[in-house]
Amino acid sequence: MDPDVTENAAPKPATLPDAQTVTGVKHWTDRLFSFRVTRPRSLRFRSGEFVMIGLPGKDGRPVMRAYSIASPAWADELEFYSIKVPDGPLTSRLQHIEPGDQIILRPKPVGTLVLDALLPGKRLWMLATGTGIAPFASLVRDPETYEKFEQVIVMHTCRLKAELDYGRELIESLPDDPLIGEFVRGKLRYYPTTTREDSPQMGRITDNLQSGKVFADLGVPPLDPSQDRAMVCGSLGFNRDMKTLLESIGFREGANSEPAEYVVEKAFVG
Ligand code: A2P
Repeated sequence: MDPDVTENAAPKPATLPDAQTVTGVKHWTDRLFSFRVTRPRSLRFRSGEFVMIGLPGKDGRPVMRAYSIASPAWADELEFYSIKVPDGPLTSRLQHIEPGDQIILRPKPVGTLVLDALLPGKRLWMLATGTGIAPFASLVRDPETYEKFEQVIVMHTCRLKAELDYGRELIESLPDDPLIGEFVRGKLRYYPTTTREDSPQMGRITDNLQSGKVFADLGVPPLDPSQDRAMVCGSLGFNRDMKTLLESIGFREGANSEPAEYVVEKAFVG
């Protein structure tokens, strides 16, 4: 199939309840893919939030999972970034979608990984493992992020180099982006690392924070709850260890109703 032709194909009319049409799919590795779908006209969301998406199940009941919206709030389409779990109830099938197919999308965005749940600060740290980069792909394209913070640092860690590509391509393209470039330039720093393949920077986020290596490499002061803010999104173990680390140096977990110094959200799989 010619990808250019399918990318530009006119969306088929929606037939499922809450159906949206797939407009593009990109496979990054044999375990990771991203895709875009049409955006419901009524859908408003805050960068960092997630929605439920899915496919009709064999028994007629939809199979739904939480997905962070990876696209910015101003974009016409919605983008998602997903792992492929070979026997996952949803992703084993979702990984085969193609432009023109339909998925189910419940247009009720929610989540705690939002700027509103953080107190004002100087520097914002976005800390992600694996597909946890997805909500940050939205937040780094939101002008409000740069209006609220003088500096934004994205740390992303994966086992292998190729697993960083989705985030790397996006972040490296932003300074030249015609829409968001002027906000990003000089403010956004990127610190990718791998843990199971040699690359220029290695190690777990928790280790690079605790040893001080990342502060030395970037020339920034160590984490300080009076001026730094953090958003955490990754595996359960990563989130737990980051929570312990941040709270041991005086960060408190924020919520929409009570903003504080950090927020955390699980990266969803299934
Ligand atoms: P490592 O290779 O040392 O386990 P996974 O694919 O298991 O979700 O992991 C994605 C990345 O997150 C890997 O680089 C992994 O490092 C790292 N990671 C996993 N658990 C933790 C944790 N508890 N704290 C910090 N990093 C973690």
